Amino acid sequence: MSDIVYIGMDLGTSRTSITTSTGVRTTVWSYVGYAQDHVSRKHLGGRDKVFGEEAVQNRMAVDLVRPLDKGVIQDDEKSRHAVRDLIEYVIEQAEIPTGSTIYGVIGAPAEASVDSKAHILAAASEFMDSIVVCSEPFSVAYGLDFLADTLVVDIGAGTVDLCRVHATMPKAEDQRTHHFGGDAIDARLTELLTENHPEAQFSSNMVREIKEDHACVGTHMDPVVATFPVKGKPTEFDITAEVSEACSGIVAPTVEALQDLIATYDPEFQQKMRNHILLGGGGSQITGLSRAFEEALVEYGGGKVKSVEEPQYAGSNGALKIALDMPEDFWQEFIEEQETQA
Ligand SMILES: Nc1ncnc2c1ncn2[C@@H]1O[C@H](COP(=O)(O)OP(=O)(O)O)[C@@H](O)[C@H]1O
Ligand SMILES: [Mg+2]
Repeated sequence: MSDIVYIGMDLGTSRTSITTSTGVRTTVWSYVGYAQDHVSRKHLGGRDKVFGEEAVQNRMAVDLVRPLDKGVIQDDEKSRHAVRDLIEYVIEQAEIPTGSTIYGVIGAPAEASVDSKAHILAAASEFMDSIVVCSEPFSVAYGLDFLADTLVVDIGAGTVDLCRVHATMPKAEDQRTHHFGGDAIDARLTELLTENHPEAQFSSNMVREIKEDHACVGTHMDPVVATFPVKGKPTEFDITAEVSEACSGIVAPTVEALQDLIATYDPEFQQKMRNHILLGGGGSQITGLSRAFEEALVEYGGGKVKSVEEPQYAGSNGALKIALDMPEDFWQEFIEEQETQA
């Protein structure tokens, strides 16, 4: 058999990352842009499609698809096709030697890992020989060797996925998802800025960038001053209160889901779990978030929360680790099943 290359992929609503056993890791925004006509194709240098940031920057010239937008693959041909193209693109970026046998673990938003599993397998099986789809918070925990009595909170753009980890593959009852993630913060911030500063001009991209630079919850916050044009003239605005209020929206629904997962767990181990809460995903970089969760958990008996060190790659690194630990029999079983189906 040819050489085996193992890959871990984090197929997120806003970002897709890959880590390979050949030592490559790379990330791309989860967007695909398709040329609309021959003019836009010419504009794209003769290409039919572009990916990631380039697709977003050319959004006026392409049909922009964000296939995992709401945390599942939308059930239309366009989204399914875009997932396939996105997976093909990231695997190309990983420069895996041709002819390799590829075994991959794909971590996806919790709901997608169940509801869209068949779509993900169908899309990825064109490019990988054997595949496992798992929920992303589980791959984050696995990568950090947190396999027992841990609660992982993966704060993405479209979804916030929570997962109880207790030394087995998580089941549906171990997971909760809510939709007040990064995108919802952006939407709320846009709303507040529009209400409070109707004269300011800004785009959703600008709002997201401001959030990524200054996101903070809690009372001790550095002032946030943004420059927006007013009738074309650059003007400064103090938007500290708006940023703080928009970011704070994430706390209540997350604490509610955390508490629910703790309360329905074996009572003997609840204490251990509440003291082992791990934050991952891009949104875990909001300053003061661990502290805000700990404070909100006090009335339910307290808890200890900490953030992963590499939010961007924690998911794909963990997925690679699952792949490396998976027994060969398992991969073979998948291949035989595919062959039987074919
Ligand atoms: N420094 C930061 N502070 C707050 N939010 C951030 C920061 N960096 C990225 N984000 C947000 O994190 C979200 C993306 O997180 P990610 O884990 O990549 O998402 P997904 O798994 O859904 O693709 C986006 O909403 C992005 O704006
Ligand atoms: Mg993610």
